[in-house]
Amino acid sequence: MTDYVDFNSQMWDKWSEGGNTWTIPVTHEEFMRGKTGDLRLLLTPQKPVPQEWYRGLGKKVLGLASGGGQQGALLSARGYEVTILDNSRRQLAAEKSVAAREGYRIDLVKGDMTQPFPFEDESFDWIINPVSNCYVEDLTNMWSESFRVLRRGGALMTGFTNPILYMFADEDLDLQARTPLTCKYSLPYNGRQREVAGKKISMDEGYQFSHTLETQLGGQMRAGFLLKALYEDTDDSCRLSKYSSLYLANLAIKP
Ligand SMILES: C[S@@+](CC[C@H](N)C(=O)[O-])C[C@H]1O[C@@H](n2cnc3c(N)ncnc32)[C@H](O)[C@@H]1O
Repeated sequence: MTDYVDFNSQMWDKWSEGGNTWTIPVTHEEFMRGKTGDLRLLLTPQKPVPQEWYRGLGKKVLGLASGGGQQGALLSARGYEVTILDNSRRQLAAEKSVAAREGYRIDLVKGDMTQPFPFEDESFDWIINPVSNCYVEDLTNMWSESFRVLRRGGALMTGFTNPILYMFADEDLDLQARTPLTCKYSLPYNGRQREVAGKKISMDEGYQFSHTLETQLGGQMRAGFLLKALYEDTDDSCRLSKYSSLYLANLAIKP
């Protein structure tokens, strides 16, 4: 069977070449604005992370699955000490090129969040983890490793997809689509099981997993986190946004 993590890593390299929204680094102007203006960090497509989520938490930040020269660059502009762990070579290269252009230091680590994180216990004050666990089949490791590498009182901020998105075929979700919106997949959607059932997994979608609220929020609590706050978000470019919120983000604290 295909090594799905490796496949997704190559897919993100390809998406980075193709200009996927989450791979376009901040411009010099955005970086300069980040130094003084409001810090506009994203865990989900549209709504920024409330500033009270990270204000006063400390300077050492892990950008988990966060390469691409976006959140890491904006945080660096504000003087945070940032480490990015990402499994895409090109996403890390984009991160490096922004750091070279703007002249700041950032630690870049090529790594897979389904495996033990290559950091000491209690290395970070907080973790920012934009929507990415839809590319991971089992979330247990990412929650327990996030807990381990945070200091006590530290925070995990994570964005994830509303599973409802995975009930429909991609082509039906386009804003211009006129096909009936018919439920195609049962939840939780699992790209590897779909492949076993005969679906061809292409580099346009990769291996994706919808998860459940039990494995998302319940999984964080099982790892030891206390849930503190949550918001929902949407994506105006998706047809389903007329009917439902499409993303969630939550703040979890290591007591
Ligand atoms: C939506 S993008 C988020 C990156 C974005 N530039 C940001 O603002 O943080 C999802 C990221 O998850 C990364 N990713 C996917 N699977 C991963 C894994 N198993 N381990 C680490 N990173 C992974 C991808 O390489 C991609 O950069």
